[in-house]
Amino acid sequence: MTIRPILDPCCGSRMFWFDRQDGRAVFGDIRQEAHSLQDRSSPGGSRQLVIAPDVLLDFRALPYGDASFHLVVFDPPHLVQNGRSGWLAKKYGKLGADWRDDLRAGFAECFRVLRPNGTLIFKWNEHEVRVSEILALTDQKPLFGNRCGKTAKSHWIVFMKPEATA
Ligand SMILES: C[S@@+](CC[C@H](N)C(=O)[O-])C[C@H]1O[C@@H](n2cnc3c(N)ncnc32)[C@H](O)[C@@H]1O
Repeated sequence: MTIRPILDPCCGSRMFWFDRQDGRAVFGDIRQEAHSLQDRSSPGGSRQLVIAPDVLLDFRALPYGDASFHLVVFDPPHLVQNGRSGWLAKKYGKLGADWRDDLRAGFAECFRVLRPNGTLIFKWNEHEVRVSEILALTDQKPLFGNRCGKTAKSHWIVFMKPEATA
């Protein structure tokens, strides 16, 4: 049983969090690593990218019981092309060849660990794959969403877990 109400199972470097140490959240990721990235804003400068989850986990098999969290924020990698190894892959991670099955399992696990009427926030960037293709990987229907970013390719989509599927 967990006492924290929020799960971020793909936390990466926690870029979208206002407070990267928010005590209400469990921060999980499949990797723990640090990279020094070139900082284009200062000549010769560098910047640290630190991925340091509270828990090493796999969103395809979350180590939590059913109905454990009030809120889950699911921001899986959106890069699916083989051979990606650059800065974007370091920052956002990348999906494997079976990415449809992996994301299908990820959605199922996020909904399993959510309490009835709990909220799932899903983030996706349409850089390579249309969001409609991703939403087809879950039977749950989104409530509403928003697209943003320089090219309007980032989607934030909100779901609520139905009471009947607890
Ligand atoms: C788009 S990034 C998340 C960025 C993060 N939301 C932020 O604000 O910085 C996706 C993350 O999912 C992680 N990831 C990839 N496969 C995973 C898996 N099977 N289980 C858990 N995390 C995974 C990657 O390591 C990567 O850090």
